[in-house]
Amino acid sequence: MSHTTQPIRTTEPVNFSEALLGKMDRAIQQFPEGKQKSAILTLLHLAQAELGWISVPTMDKIAEILHIQAIEVYEVATFYTMFHLEPVGKYVFEVCRTGPCMLVGSDQLIEHIGQRLNIGVGETTEDGLFTLKTAECLGGCGYGPLLQCRHRFHEHLTPEKVDALIEQYRQGTIEPGAL
Ligand code: FES
Repeated sequence: MSHTTQPIRTTEPVNFSEALLGKMDRAIQQFPEGKQKSAILTLLHLAQAELGWISVPTMDKIAEILHIQAIEVYEVATFYTMFHLEPVGKYVFEVCRTGPCMLVGSDQLIEHIGQRLNIGVGETTEDGLFTLKTAECLGGCGYGPLLQCRHRFHEHLTPEKVDALIEQYRQGTIEPGAL
C-alpha cells in the first residue's frame, strides 16, 4: 500500500554485505536481459531485511546496481508502506486497519498494543525493540484482526494473544518468515 513518508536523507555511506550482494545478484539474474530493473522490489526487500530500513544512500546504491536513475528507486520505495524510510525497531508490528479488519476490532487492537508498549502509531519503544505501524489490507481479510511482523502473519488476534506475542518476540523465539 502507498504512503507519503519522505525518506531520510543521510550522507552516511551504506555497506551491503557480500551475502546481500550475492542474493541481489541472484535476484537480478531471474530477469531476462534488459529487464533487470524489474528486480527493484526484491532488492529493496533484501536490503531492508539486512539493514532494517531504507535510507537514501541505500536507494542510491540499488540504483547503481541496477544501472538506473536513483529517482526510479525513490519512486518505488516511497510508494509502498512496507518499506521503512526511517529507522525502526527490531520488530515492526504492522496492524491492518482496513474495513474488514476494522469490523473485527483492529482499532481496539492498535490501541491495546500502543498501551502495552507505551508508544503511538509510528513510534518505536525506547529499547528499540518494537515499532507500531498501521497498514492497509494485508490480504488476510478473513483472518482479522491481524498484524504482520518480519514476513509473518499473526491472525485472529485478541489482547491476550497479542500480549503473548509481544513476550515471544521479546524472548526472540519467533523466527522471521520467508522473504
Ligand atoms: Fe485486513 Fe484485508 S482488511 S487483511
